[in-house]
Amino acid sequence: MTPDLARLTPDTIVAFLGSIFDRRGGEEYLGEPVSMGEHMLQGATIAEQNGQPEEIIVGALLHDIGHFTSEFGTFSMDDTEDRFHEDAGAEVLERFFPAVITDCVRFHVAAKRYLCATRPDYVRRLSEASIHSLNLQGGPMRVDEVAEFEKNPHLAQIIAVRTLDDAGKRPGMQTPDFWHFAPMVQRMVDRHCGAVYG
Ligand SMILES: [Fe+2]
Repeated sequence: MTPDLARLTPDTIVAFLGSIFDRRGGEEYLGEPVSMGEHMLQGATIAEQNGQPEEIIVGALLHDIGHFTSEFGTFSMDDTEDRFHEDAGAEVLERFFPAVITDCVRFHVAAKRYLCATRPDYVRRLSEASIHSLNLQGGPMRVDEVAEFEKNPHLAQIIAVRTLDDAGKRPGMQTPDFWHFAPMVQRMVDRHCGAVYG
């Protein structure tokens, strides 16, 4: 089932996202000991347990949603594993969520490259699969890329979500399901869409 994305509204986007978690959350997260759904729910749960703001919780919850590209009608047979899932995710979310959320989604891979370049101890925290994909993603940022990346007004939030991305790979960790977070996600959509369209 591929919904017509153009028909998604502020009243249906959260149910759409939740249905992706419900139907496809169990899919494998390549090379990691958790499923895709567990991975995103773990990041959001860790953020909530640590009292982080809603934008960080929701950013972690949705950061890899672009892995489900077939849900967005953008899948092609030429796709490879690293087909810029971060861009696909941000594109779907940007109609409904503030820029801080879409930046956390769009730049979570770049943040890994940034942290590898700027924090020497960071690489040691990465999983094996994440180190492998780092090489496909361009390796650590160059100095000029670092300077450009630091201009992003949401740098702190992007790095916070990246940290949760790296943390959310714990086999067996118990988390609530998507619907626990749904009211928070809806609040964020309503606030954003109310401000933009209201
Ligand atoms: Fe992730």
